[in-house]
Amino acid sequence: MTETNNLSSLANSIQTIASPFRTYLNELHERYRSEMGGEVADYIPELALADPHWFGICVATTDGRVFEVGDCDKLFTIQSISKAFVFGLALEDHGREYVNSKVSVEPTGEAFNAIVLDEETNRPYNPMVNAGAIATADLIKGANGTERLKRVLDMFQRYTGREHTVHMPVFLSEKATGNRNRAIAYLMLNFGMVSDRIEEMLDLYFQQCSILVTARDLAMMAATLANGGVNPVTGKRAIDQRYVQDVISVMLTCGMYDYSGEWIYRVGLPAKSGVGGGITAIAPEKLGIGTFSPPLDAKGNSVRGIQVCQALSQDFGLHLFNAASSDRVLEEWIVGNDAIDGW
Ligand code: DON
Repeated sequence: MTETNNLSSLANSIQTIASPFRTYLNELHERYRSEMGGEVADYIPELALADPHWFGICVATTDGRVFEVGDCDKLFTIQSISKAFVFGLALEDHGREYVNSKVSVEPTGEAFNAIVLDEETNRPYNPMVNAGAIATADLIKGANGTERLKRVLDMFQRYTGREHTVHMPVFLSEKATGNRNRAIAYLMLNFGMVSDRIEEMLDLYFQQCSILVTARDLAMMAATLANGGVNPVTGKRAIDQRYVQDVISVMLTCGMYDYSGEWIYRVGLPAKSGVGGGITAIAPEKLGIGTFSPPLDAKGNSVRGIQVCQALSQDFGLHLFNAASSDRVLEEWIVGNDAIDGW
């Protein structure tokens, strides 16, 4: 047998291992597919074009195995999920102290687009709400807007292992309608919290929100953070190890907006959601979850995404503070790899 034949028969044998986890994910997808609660976001006109039936679940382990079901190759805009990762880049650019002098890390209990700053320090409350994310975008280094955007796109490539682009129609739609974000930026300028390059920082913020990703990308991004900042498939470092804990901590306390308290109570995993319908959730040292389903609840979180993460957390005892043993032991379920071809 030639070497090529050997390799392809090895790949085939890996693919044909029937993974109980794959079966579990299929059942999960089937269970929540018919859930029709929530509304597709329409405050950005382009987002209203999403099909409420799109639904993908992907799990990537820190040892590089990827399991997926449903619409995991479908591209959609990352939206607010970008905020956690751009915060990591700002930390790499300036260090913890400086970034923290511009953006606090306190949960707000307010909606993501609230026009509110800390009364004492004038800082936005945290990098996950729009005010904090716009101030964070202002911190990204680069000679001009093009270079800053390129650094953000390159960063996402390190997390996912593939190239990313900005979806121009969503970017232009946000830019044309984002006057509330413009108001927030000017309020921060008034307090001297951001530079006066208002349109440039807003452009970067709208562009980072309009980057196209898949549920698989979101799982890889979470798995990379779960793996200490190194993409478990490519072996490349995506973020300085020093700042992994900063990003994960803010996701834990602020990632699901004014649902963050209930989310940590019920699901117990650091996570970030976006109005495009994505959620990325981290089980440190174990795995990353990426879900995609556009219908959102009133707080802007994907309805099916919440259900899926809650089920995975409960069924495999993934809650960070879970001290009880779970019925299902993860390691016994995740044999095989159903996405071997993609990698
Ligand atoms: O600022 C905005 O309106 C969006 N570009 C990002 C919002 C977002 O994803 C909030 N999420 N749930």
